[in-house]
Amino acid sequence: MEESVCMMRIDKYLAEMGQGTRSEIKKLIRSGRVMVDGETVKKPELKIDETTQKVSLEGKQIGYAKKEYYMLYKPAGVISATKDDRDKTVLDLITDKKRNDLFPVGRLDKDTEGLLLITNDGEMAHRLLSPKKHVDKCYFTKVTGRIDEEDIHRFKEGVDIGDEKKTLPADLEILSSGEISEAKVTIREGRYHQVKRMFAACGLHVQALKRVAIGGGALDKTLEPGECRPLTQQEAAAILTEGE
Ligand code: URA
Repeated sequence: MEESVCMMRIDKYLAEMGQGTRSEIKKLIRSGRVMVDGETVKKPELKIDETTQKVSLEGKQIGYAKKEYYMLYKPAGVISATKDDRDKTVLDLITDKKRNDLFPVGRLDKDTEGLLLITNDGEMAHRLLSPKKHVDKCYFTKVTGRIDEEDIHRFKEGVDIGDEKKTLPADLEILSSGEISEAKVTIREGRYHQVKRMFAACGLHVQALKRVAIGGGALDKTLEPGECRPLTQQEAAAILTEGE
């Protein structure tokens, strides 16, 4: 096989693509279950060009992806973690993933639903989560109690939620107000239970919370809770320049 500039070990390639642990994969390779460009290979240390060569495991082609980006409509009841002994995680919902190193960009509470990005791109995660970038996160919420103009003013000034500092100014738009009220909220940080604590500081209890946008990226309206789709290249590129 010819040497190339982009070379990686075949066992690493298959492990990154989620085909098993490194030692399981070494066994599969040694037992002749892996082919590269139609030829059986038996050495786990064999280096291949992941950008051009075709790899198959037990007859199934395994494509390579260096970075993956998904938009998930997180349903309530699922936790924002990579694995958990008890509960279903958001990673369990990304069924078509290639890579084994995906993670959720930030967290939504177990009972919160809506837009969650899943990737293995640390740079994207940093851009969206860094407290210095102040990327907008927009939520729809239903609260117990009447939201009024005073609450809009408090959100605009920043709310004391018991942390060292008040929250950054946030936008509150009342959609309906009564014994149960509905509103759209835009915050620019990602503190623990932030939206719930901001409303609690105003004497209101959040019953339901749904994230609908992060920066310029909105939750795809065609997705149902629990569904995901890959980000388009344009969407991923727009997010990668978020906060610039
Ligand atoms: N704020 C909250 O209180 N919970 C979330 O899940 C997200 C923002």
